[in-house]
Amino acid sequence: MDPRERLIVALDVEHLHEAEELVEKLADSADIFKVGIAPFTAFGPGLLDVLGEKGKKVFLDLKVHDIPNTVLNAAYQAARKNVFMMNFHCLGGKAMMEAAVKGAEKAGEEGRRKPLLLGVTVLTSMDGEGLRETGIGASVEDTVLKFASMAKEAGLNGVVASAREAKKIKEKLGEGFVIVTPGIRPEWAAKGDQKRVLSPKEAIKEGADYIVVGRPIIKADDPAAAAEKIIEEMEG
Ligand code: C5P
Repeated sequence: MDPRERLIVALDVEHLHEAEELVEKLADSADIFKVGIAPFTAFGPGLLDVLGEKGKKVFLDLKVHDIPNTVLNAAYQAARKNVFMMNFHCLGGKAMMEAAVKGAEKAGEEGRRKPLLLGVTVLTSMDGEGLRETGIGASVEDTVLKFASMAKEAGLNGVVASAREAKKIKEKLGEGFVIVTPGIRPEWAAKGDQKRVLSPKEAIKEGADYIVVGRPIIKADDPAAAAEKIIEEMEG
């Protein structure tokens, strides 16, 4: 895959005009933009339309976790909005993830392109102790691999995972199982609240198919230059 196609820019902004300006500035450097819960709540699906009109792809990062029927409808509506990828908490169970696949297929029958459906395994903000609090006794790594396997069995296309887990997931579930990785920091960027970070080059080496980058690009004085630098680093 061309490194340019691997970059997903997180549109974590407070005002719609900031999102529009960023998409404009990154017109030649980024094709995929991640819309998370906060911007989606603030700006609504209008933001998806803005991105679509500019020829950009959307990663709708709502981390859906609900009963199967609701999830089927969520995947269906997202596909009708031409979303490129979206995600679901694996903890919702296999029946829930299978419902997501059915929702995407329903849209496919109406001529829509099916979005890439991704599982969210264990949030990177969780550690072993956090898992135990929920009643899960297994280690983070075992839980991630278990959830990723469940996602694959349910028919999802891949998972969102830390680059540190990417290699093991690929080994277990095969090259074709897509891995999307946040927590990316080039050496020249501030870490912010991210702790376990990897560089763009390391993430690709570990098996990430797509990398999600927010602040190192959106807070840069020159977002396009920052994006180009990251693309170059992936190439290297
Ligand atoms: O600014 P930064 O590059 O840290 O942004 C990363 C984006 O990826 C944010 O939108 C964040 O919510 C998201 N994300 C993450 N770690 C996860 C899952 C999602 O950083 N495990």
